[in-house]
Amino acid sequence: MQIGSLTLPSNLFLSPLAGYTNLPFRLVLREIGGVGLCTTDLVNARSLLEKRSKAFKLIETRPADSPLAVQLFGSVPEEMRDAAQFLESSGVASIDINMGCPVRKVCNVGGGSAMMREHDKTAALVRGMVNAVKIPVTAKMRLGWDDQNITAPELARALEDAGVAAIFVHGRTREQGFGGTVNLPGIRKVVAAVKAIPVIGNGDVVTPQAAKKMLEETGCAGVSIGRGAFYDPWIFKRTMEYCSVRLVAESAGATGSTLQVPPEPTFAERVRVMRRHLDLMIEIFGEALGCRMFRKIAPWYAKRFGPCHEFNKHVVHVSTKTQFDTVLGNYQRWRQQFLDANGELQIRFQPAPLVASFMRESAEGILPQAISIPKGPVERW
Ligand SMILES: Cc1cc2nc3c(=O)[nH]c(=O)nc-3n(C[C@H](O)[C@H](O)[C@H](O)COP(=O)(O)O)c2cc1C
Repeated sequence: MQIGSLTLPSNLFLSPLAGYTNLPFRLVLREIGGVGLCTTDLVNARSLLEKRSKAFKLIETRPADSPLAVQLFGSVPEEMRDAAQFLESSGVASIDINMGCPVRKVCNVGGGSAMMREHDKTAALVRGMVNAVKIPVTAKMRLGWDDQNITAPELARALEDAGVAAIFVHGRTREQGFGGTVNLPGIRKVVAAVKAIPVIGNGDVVTPQAAKKMLEETGCAGVSIGRGAFYDPWIFKRTMEYCSVRLVAESAGATGSTLQVPPEPTFAERVRVMRRHLDLMIEIFGEALGCRMFRKIAPWYAKRFGPCHEFNKHVVHVSTKTQFDTVLGNYQRWRQQFLDANGELQIRFQPAPLVASFMRESAEGILPQAISIPKGPVERW
């Protein structure tokens, strides 16, 4: 997969989730594998230029965290340009511009999704950034403000003319928040509107099958995954395996229904990765803050543990690594009552499968569970 001059190892992307897509999480995903490009949480261009420590913490990285895109927001062209130049000189691989954030504080100053309403102004800002750096500049948007204003196709085209190297599009409007269904035909229209740059689809991809459906039905060049990565950090690796096995099998004459989805990780593997995630949180944020932040992360791992209320009840109070280990040990003993003779979770205690909004009608016979929205420093994305 190519984004401007940048060659990526896969066409699967980590979507920015403010408060979550920090260095420890990105390192966890990269260690598991399959992700082509990770993006930071959104960073205020002005705060970066003012060298605020909070902004610098957001762009903290390591060689293993590469290639990395930093997502900028702001509406002052000179600030966005200077911040882009600063990031390029710091070794960042590409810069993404946030045009989807619906938070009033961001929109009121003309940033985030307000940029989708003023195409000429937005294109001029983007051109200034593109001309100032050699690394690719990309844009992330929603389909439009509301159903009456589906502006993404037109904006994507204008931004391509202004020099962006790729468009990321969440298949919902700003008005929709996270409700309803991701609109695959809407993403398809954005794909059709651009001349040559890749369009990356986004929204509700929670399984390898959903990623494949989005790729096939929209013609997008890649898929970006946010909450699905939080719910299942193995999703990139499994999706890559699923898509490549399919290509080989289809060329040998197999059909879609006969193809196996790679197995989900075992409980032991989930626990191993969760502990690694906490170790990295402690290494990067310190034990007190790292453990406090992990209180909202651990329950996401637990969503696939089966019965987990005993874990969630206690993990939200941990302040040290030792306390976390005690909570986990107690939970593992408590969980044994739900295991069968082989040490596997009995079928009736297994968590319901998660189904993407745009696949619910095809999920016959299973009660689909929708993905929840992690709490964060934003009310609604
Ligand atoms: C808690 C939270 C924080 C988010 N932060 C950002 C952000 O910083 N920048 C951005 O462009 N989108 C942000 N988003 C939107 C996601 O990147 C993504 O577009 C959206 O969640 C849909 O994709 P998903 O269904 O794969 O999660 C955020 C979403 C959530 C739930």
